[in-house]
Amino acid sequence: MAAAAAAPRGPDAGGEKRILCVGLVCLDIISVVDTYPAEDSDTRCVSQRWQRGGNASNTCTVLALLGAPCAFMGSLAPGHAADFVLADLRRHGVDVCHAVPQPGGRLPVSVVIASARRGTRTILHAGGNLPDVTARDFERVDLSQYKWIHWEARNAAEQAAMMRRVERHNRARPAAERVGTSVEVEKPREELLELLALGSVVFISKDVARHFGYRSAPEALRGLRSRVQPGATLICAWAEEGADAMGPDGELVHSDAFPPETLVDTLGAGDTFNAAVIFALSAGRSLRDALTFGCRIAGRKCGIQGFDGIV
Ligand code: ADP
Ligand code: FRU
Repeated sequence: MAAAAAAPRGPDAGGEKRILCVGLVCLDIISVVDTYPAEDSDTRCVSQRWQRGGNASNTCTVLALLGAPCAFMGSLAPGHAADFVLADLRRHGVDVCHAVPQPGGRLPVSVVIASARRGTRTILHAGGNLPDVTARDFERVDLSQYKWIHWEARNAAEQAAMMRRVERHNRARPAAERVGTSVEVEKPREELLELLALGSVVFISKDVARHFGYRSAPEALRGLRSRVQPGATLICAWAEEGADAMGPDGELVHSDAFPPETLVDTLGAGDTFNAAVIFALSAGRSLRDALTFGCRIAGRKCGIQGFDGIV
């Protein structure tokens, strides 16, 4: 597959360092319905579309739309679905030189029922059978080309090794040359929780917060702060309640959500929020600014189908 054959590129033509997102790319088959169907009913969709999905891949889409040079790293299977997502990554200007073609297997596919009436998105995800990218694959990444690397927590042990490699790289460099790191722990799976202790920015989901018994973002941040490394920032988005963050000084920061006039499509709202926060933090903006920007862009996403047109 061409993705692997392409030589890794340097910083983009403008000399700006890039942002790399490591995680899933999949195919989303999205059926938009007026109201969520009853089981065993026969419903006509308002519309149906194929869309490239996966948290890391969606985050790349939004970073690219915001104007940040970015690259995607994740596994690709042979076949039509993979060709579709690869072409779409390229169409959005996302560098795919670190997409890893696997010799066999199927690309993961999600069937999504998007309910127009309530703005909900119900996801049925078929994981496929592709191995995730490994620390060995990650060794090919020239860290000096990147200003920020973001991981979507999946194969935690391998990803921890990747993150430790970046920590070692950073230790030997002055602040201006260090690579920012972030990790998103979305699924409350036990083996993923070790990643909370790595990364300078840690995104946790409502699901993870609830798994620990917390009923709000501020409660979760106070409770889970001891799990992140000293100096790290912990962030928790909470749908229409906006998002909260706690920086290294322990101060809680909040942004309200920015609800769109009409709630259209919430698929990938969290991935959009992460992208906008990373975009702002990697540009040196304050945590408060980044959080507000994240909620503003995520709110805009909720008012449109898909991501194109977000800016
Ligand atoms: P996901 O379920 O995709 O992980 P979240 O529920 O964590 O997304 O929401 C991420 C961000 O998206 C929130 O902080 C908020 O800013 C925005 N958002 C999500 N749902 C809504 C909504 N219904 N109205 C307004 N903003 C929303
Ligand atoms: C949205 C998303 C979808 C994908 C699913 C995978 O956050 O990345 O694009 O189908 O989650 O869990």
